[in-house]
Amino acid sequence: MTSPVDPTSTPAWAALTALADGYALDLREAFAADPGRAQRLSLTAADLFVDLSKNLVDDRVLAALVELGEQVGLAERRDAMLAGERINVTENRSVLHTALRRPATDSLVVDGVDVVAEVHAVLDRVFAFADAVRSGSWVGVTGKPISTVVNIGIGGSDLGPVMVYEALLPYVQPGLGCRFVSNIDPADVSEKTADLDPETTLFIIASKTFTTLETLTNARMARDWFLARLREAGVVDDSEASAKQAISKHFVAVSTALDKVADFGIDPANAFGFWDWVGGRYSVDSAVGTAVAVAIGPDNFRAFLDGFHSVDEHFATEPLERNVPALMGLLNIWYVNFLGAASHAVLPYAQYLHRFAAYLQQLTMESNGKGVRSDGRPVTTATGEIFWGEPGTNGQHAFYQLIHQGTQLIPADFIAVATPAHPLKDGAADVHELFLANFFAQTKALAFGKTADEVRAEGTAEPIVPARVFSGNRPTTSIMAPALTPSVVGQLIALYEHITFTQGVVWGINSFDQWGVELGKQLALQIAPAVAGDADALAAQDPSTANLVRYYLANRR
Ligand code: F6P
Repeated sequence: MTSPVDPTSTPAWAALTALADGYALDLREAFAADPGRAQRLSLTAADLFVDLSKNLVDDRVLAALVELGEQVGLAERRDAMLAGERINVTENRSVLHTALRRPATDSLVVDGVDVVAEVHAVLDRVFAFADAVRSGSWVGVTGKPISTVVNIGIGGSDLGPVMVYEALLPYVQPGLGCRFVSNIDPADVSEKTADLDPETTLFIIASKTFTTLETLTNARMARDWFLARLREAGVVDDSEASAKQAISKHFVAVSTALDKVADFGIDPANAFGFWDWVGGRYSVDSAVGTAVAVAIGPDNFRAFLDGFHSVDEHFATEPLERNVPALMGLLNIWYVNFLGAASHAVLPYAQYLHRFAAYLQQLTMESNGKGVRSDGRPVTTATGEIFWGEPGTNGQHAFYQLIHQGTQLIPADFIAVATPAHPLKDGAADVHELFLANFFAQTKALAFGKTADEVRAEGTAEPIVPARVFSGNRPTTSIMAPALTPSVVGQLIALYEHITFTQGVVWGINSFDQWGVELGKQLALQIAPAVAGDADALAAQDPSTANLVRYYLANRR
């Protein structure tokens, strides 16, 4: 692998620096001067209609951003990823989440193995399992069909499945629900199992490594809960064989470490594998999505995968100037590196996408929150903005004040669909139309604001005028789709995966490792004995940590 290009050494970076100096694009003027702006800056990627026209860019900035993409070798890096080159250099791995959604008729041979054939072999097993659970032919230890699937995982083994499950609730088979346990806080597993019937519950233990403390602890607690309930009911006796028989009907696993799955006591026949070339945060379209496949069924899951693939094709083939993920990634570079933005809001006008921002936080921040480049040298510019958000209209009544009138530049992506899952009315009013009117109104207010003269014209008293002025020129991207279908959810995820990739390439970082999460995990294991009361372990802590542990020891009841 060649060393990354230092973006700050490129002519395009110099051009962007010059353009950014005193940059003061006024969106009112830009639209007035160019009646074709909205049309020209609206693009499509698969079913996604993406309006970039309310961003703080003109043709010169856009051209320089595209040149930056060319000068850092974005297309070459993309092609290397798609071909299975080992671009995850610190782990010496390929990065092939895009192979997870290639059609079965494709083939991609990496290190002598057709990874697409392997993907479909696992998918076929996942789908057969999903069909069995959905049809009731998979029964629990007492012969009852499954009514609740509990996915136990964390990070990529949780956020993807829970986000997609929530997004696609209208597609979930009636009578078959999923729950998601992630936190090692025992409140999580306790609350999620409290009202469950173990005879109709199926646990999916999802962990790429099958070593993650939270997941294995929760899995053991779930197994204890399950066996204790069934022993109370006289279904399971004290023999190991009886427990094993019950577990084989109620516990399945998803992992790259199938040996560890067997050590845990899960029948390897009930385990679905994936590969080290799938990052956890890029894995919902692998067997990690098994809970979703059970809930929405194989046909819908196939449509979900096809949605990803359609955006992959767009990213792989469109020239940069019309390539939606590439342009959105380059726009983010403009805001972070040239206009000083430190965060980025993602605001879905779709209640079903209420976990989308949380999902994107792992995708974007675990990928690009890095201070060294892929060649081990320090980055040469700011990286990794903070992604955050909540669905509209809830956010409007909470944090939009800061986006409209605060002192920070916060680029925001607004997402909505044309056809609602619930076409309800409030009297004569179509409620989805009211909802969409809010989406359109917010992006309009952010772009065009309200001048002091307009505020005065409303009869506002002069001393109050400044507080009621909206500066406008607050950038947004609007993303619309026909409906929140499985395909569209796949498309949205792929869009943000490739935006994240684009930014990582410009910054020269490896977006596919996550060493920054390791130190805390190691220290937790070192501190655990102190928390359990070991005096030597307590004495080995720094004074602040030791005091906090002492507070705990003195106050626990
Ligand atoms: O600690 C971070 C992390 O490694 C994530 O990257 C990953 O998605 C999560 O933990 C869970 O890991 P696993 O699937 O191996 O349990």
